[in-house]
Amino acid sequence: MSSPTTKGIKNPRARHGFRGRTCSIASVGSYVPERVLTNADLEKMVDTSDDWITSRTGIKERRIAASDEYTSDMAAKAALRAMKKGGILPEQIDLVIVATITPDMPFPATACLVQQKIGAFRSAAFDIEAACSGFIYAMEIGQQFITSHTYDTVLVIGAEKLSSIIDWTDRNTCVLFGDGAGAAILQSRANAHGLLTACMGADGSKADLLSMPGGGCRCPATAESVASRLHYLRMEGKETFKSAVNAMYTAAQESLRRCELDITRIKCIIPHQANQRIIEAVSERLEAKPDQVFVNLDKYGNTSAASVAIALDEAVESGRIQRGDLILLIVFGAGLTWAAAVIEW
Ligand code: ACO
Repeated sequence: MSSPTTKGIKNPRARHGFRGRTCSIASVGSYVPERVLTNADLEKMVDTSDDWITSRTGIKERRIAASDEYTSDMAAKAALRAMKKGGILPEQIDLVIVATITPDMPFPATACLVQQKIGAFRSAAFDIEAACSGFIYAMEIGQQFITSHTYDTVLVIGAEKLSSIIDWTDRNTCVLFGDGAGAAILQSRANAHGLLTACMGADGSKADLLSMPGGGCRCPATAESVASRLHYLRMEGKETFKSAVNAMYTAAQESLRRCELDITRIKCIIPHQANQRIIEAVSERLEAKPDQVFVNLDKYGNTSAASVAIALDEAVESGRIQRGDLILLIVFGAGLTWAAAVIEW
């Protein structure tokens, strides 16, 4: 029987000294489309400048999917890469969860389309929607299936084609977002704590800060809704910024507290890649050192549910994360939603 504090780490999921089955990330993978849209390109599209975008956000370029490349295509490519790295066969996958706000279509679930594309014919499949927080929400759901012994292998994907819901005439939003996908395969691993904890939260009273008003049952597509540009993402940047810093800091602190960890024990912090100034504000409040924080938003902008998944894959590939390291993921998104997770890699 494993102690709840093996390797000097408190496992908050442990009960009465019995830890039970844990859930680890067996492998990760990511995919970004080929086309690069630079700040210089955006200067030709809207009244903006490389200087404004760089100094206010830290973003230099983002990837844009081809017109015939959909969220399910990017999700499948990220998943296949994670499966190859982990030596996982399609028939081993019990469940596919896709986190996205840009599904191929309202239904069926994008996860079902991914299931076909990767050949995981034995699996169950569904989508979840928690905007930029979706990847941690999905991992936490997947974790429950593993630790309860319901499934052995769960594929979790964050994937977005945000370029399809961006108003390319609105400089307030079009400079911020990009397309891509990241995937993680969850399994139980002997002698590893894996996903130690995830603190998730939401505040629906702030739903209007960041939304796409058209396309749902409240405002189905009509000629008027299209003319009023209701099928594009809308955001109140300043308020979203403030809420993001507070929620990310609070969730991170709570997840560290649950594991009785000091920030100095964390090898790598992977925050949602929305804005360099948000990342710096949260890091400063956590008293994290800059070299603890992983940033790649200069290359991809905000890819919503794919953001921390892509960053996690890049951090692993670059050697920033080694087996046994403690990592902290922190996310924030529309809803409003937020989450932080502590993982023993
Ligand atoms: N280029 C040039 N000027 C611009 C641009 C642009 N691309 N965008 C806005 N401006 C102008 C504004 O019009 C404004 O001009 P004004 O003073 O004449 O009105 C000025 O720049 C300042 O605008 P602010 O909104 O005050 O700029 P701010 O410093 O707040 O930065 C930003 C804006 C980058 C959007 C920031 O507020 C932000 O990052 N917010 C958080 C967004 C976020 O993290 N979303 C996460 C969730 S996303 C999801 O869940 C899908």
